Amino acid sequence: MPYGRITGWAVDLPEKVLTNADLASMVDTSDEWITERSGISSRHVDGTVTEMSTVAGRAALAMAGVSPNQVDLLLLATTTSDQMIPASSSVVQDNLGLSCGAMDLNAACSGFVYGLVTAMQFVEGGMERVLLIGSDALSRFTNWEDRTTCVLFGDGAGAVVIERNGSQPSLLGWDLMSDGSAADLLYCEHDDKIVMHGQEVFRKAVLAMEKAATTAMERAGTSIDDIALVVPHQANIRIIDTALKRLGIPREKAALVLQRTGNTSAASIPLALVDALDAGRVAPGDLLLLVGFGAGMTSAAAVLRWNPPEN
Ligand code: COA
Repeated sequence: MPYGRITGWAVDLPEKVLTNADLASMVDTSDEWITERSGISSRHVDGTVTEMSTVAGRAALAMAGVSPNQVDLLLLATTTSDQMIPASSSVVQDNLGLSCGAMDLNAACSGFVYGLVTAMQFVEGGMERVLLIGSDALSRFTNWEDRTTCVLFGDGAGAVVIERNGSQPSLLGWDLMSDGSAADLLYCEHDDKIVMHGQEVFRKAVLAMEKAATTAMERAGTSIDDIALVVPHQANIRIIDTALKRLGIPREKAALVLQRTGNTSAASIPLALVDALDAGRVAPGDLLLLVGFGAGMTSAAAVLRWNPPEN
């Protein structure tokens, strides 16, 4: 059984919800503008990476039936660690009672897919169990006076347990990419807030998603017709729609939660994945395409076969 499988999953969202109407009372915007330009209606805010990761991580372990002392590695994909030092993963490791290595992985909104590919390499290299969490608290780094960014972001966490108990590979193909020449399109300096050049990010995001998805599918030896569900980074419905159109994928095949979460960076793909899993949209043997992009600019895609449990 040398291959990794996802055996448990869970999410966490902070209690506080900010609606478009709330934002319209803070900056010069409207529900209509935000909905039309982004597809977002509300988002959760005031979370912390360590709290959300702890809640999601604990629930994912419980679902998988894995006890803390059975975890060999904690990977926490985040770009908004609660502190610069130490890594949030060390705090989460202690909160969960794990006795293993722990590290943060920062690939911005592509972080969960980077983490998934990394976790699978560890598992296929011999580790029994990896806990992978994607978690971001963007609300802390959002400029609440900047209407061009504050309407887009939110907080959340999603966790998966990956176990070495599959006789068939789950990860069939993947692509990880970074284009640092675009670093100044989306950034946040120390002790400052997020700055973004939205239109440029939009343009590059569509192309990056298309390229990453195409490359991952090529490497997996699959085509778009074989994909049962696409789990895109939840940044903007117009970016998703444009990328899906270029790839020839109908929107019905996409997992979407951004209307109620906004862009939660590294949490966005696991939030959408877990939503689809819990809604019964994924059957054993289905092929999933996960595809993200983010600051850096990074991009990442993975083709995953949803393998059933084997005993
Ligand atoms: N409410 C009302 N008006 C707003 C607004 C808001 N929240 N934000 C911007 N506007 C205004 C602009 O000031 C501009 O006004 P002007 O024409 O008088 O100058 C107008 O709306 C159009 O702005 P523009 O930037 O062209 O809008 P857009 O259609 O490109 O949408 C974004 C803006 C940010 C929604 C869009 O560019 C986007 O989603 N980009 C990608 C962002 C992203 O995904 N980032 C994360 C990557 S991981």
